Amino acid sequence: MGRQTIITCDSCGTDVLDRKIDELRINLFLNKIHNVDVLKGLRLLPSNSIDLIITSPPYNLGKIHHTGNNRFKSYSQYNDDMPEELYQQWQIEILNECYRVIKQDGSMWYNHKNRIKNGIQIMPYEWILKSKFAHLVKQEIVWFNGSPNFDKIRFYPMTERVYWLVKDPKTKMFNAINHHDVFDAKDWPPVGTKGKFKRAFPEKMVEDIISCFPNAQIVLDIFSGSGTTCAVAKRMGKQYIGFELSKEYCQMAEERIEQI
Ligand SMILES: C[S@@+](CC[C@H](N)C(=O)[O-])C[C@H]1O[C@@H](n2cnc3c(N)ncnc32)[C@H](O)[C@@H]1O
Repeated sequence: MGRQTIITCDSCGTDVLDRKIDELRINLFLNKIHNVDVLKGLRLLPSNSIDLIITSPPYNLGKIHHTGNNRFKSYSQYNDDMPEELYQQWQIEILNECYRVIKQDGSMWYNHKNRIKNGIQIMPYEWILKSKFAHLVKQEIVWFNGSPNFDKIRFYPMTERVYWLVKDPKTKMFNAINHHDVFDAKDWPPVGTKGKFKRAFPEKMVEDIISCFPNAQIVLDIFSGSGTTCAVAKRMGKQYIGFELSKEYCQMAEERIEQI
């Protein structure tokens, strides 16, 4: 029988072995959209393995929600209708896992927005500050993307947010696009996936973020939807990983990415 290197490798040490196993594990995930629940997927990823997470969770807007006169259906396989407290707990668990999987100099770009429920505004800081990213918000980007909500009981809500979250306060980006912290629809034109998916990121948003991290190699989107983050990452020569619950969206994303 050959030597059982896995158990007797005193010379290289278990940390080297652990690193090798982590490398093998991350390689299994690279350059695919995985049809998996977000937390299950995250828990399978090694710690300190991801350079950039760019993502947008469902906002918990209800199975069918309305803004102004428009009514929207939620996703194909997901109701987007949790009790708010559970939703926030879920987001905290997800953020904590994201904190674990990003590298020491890694970054997470977390898109969310202020929502109105029962007449009162709920802000993403309510749970970000309860997660491991509390006090690790490097910047808050305002995304002025308009809204069909012209309800006259308040000023019209017109913006979303993108939070830049880090593990290490010393983490830097390079403002390669020479931009301020407010982006509008001219900066980030919406791209359609021909009506099949309404909540896609603008490709330019992902491109701008990635271009500010020239050394990033692995980009993850834990709610990949139509696959915008992964498609842009591939186009920019990066490795990517996507997690998505809906099989239909996974297929849509894979077809989109194949064409790049
Ligand atoms: C706001 S969309 C993301 C859109 C994406 N940024 C794009 O450009 O297409 C949120 C996505 O999360 C997915 N989703 C919801 N619950 C999930 C879960 N538990 N695990 C993984 N994906 C989930 C939904 O199916 C939906 O596609």
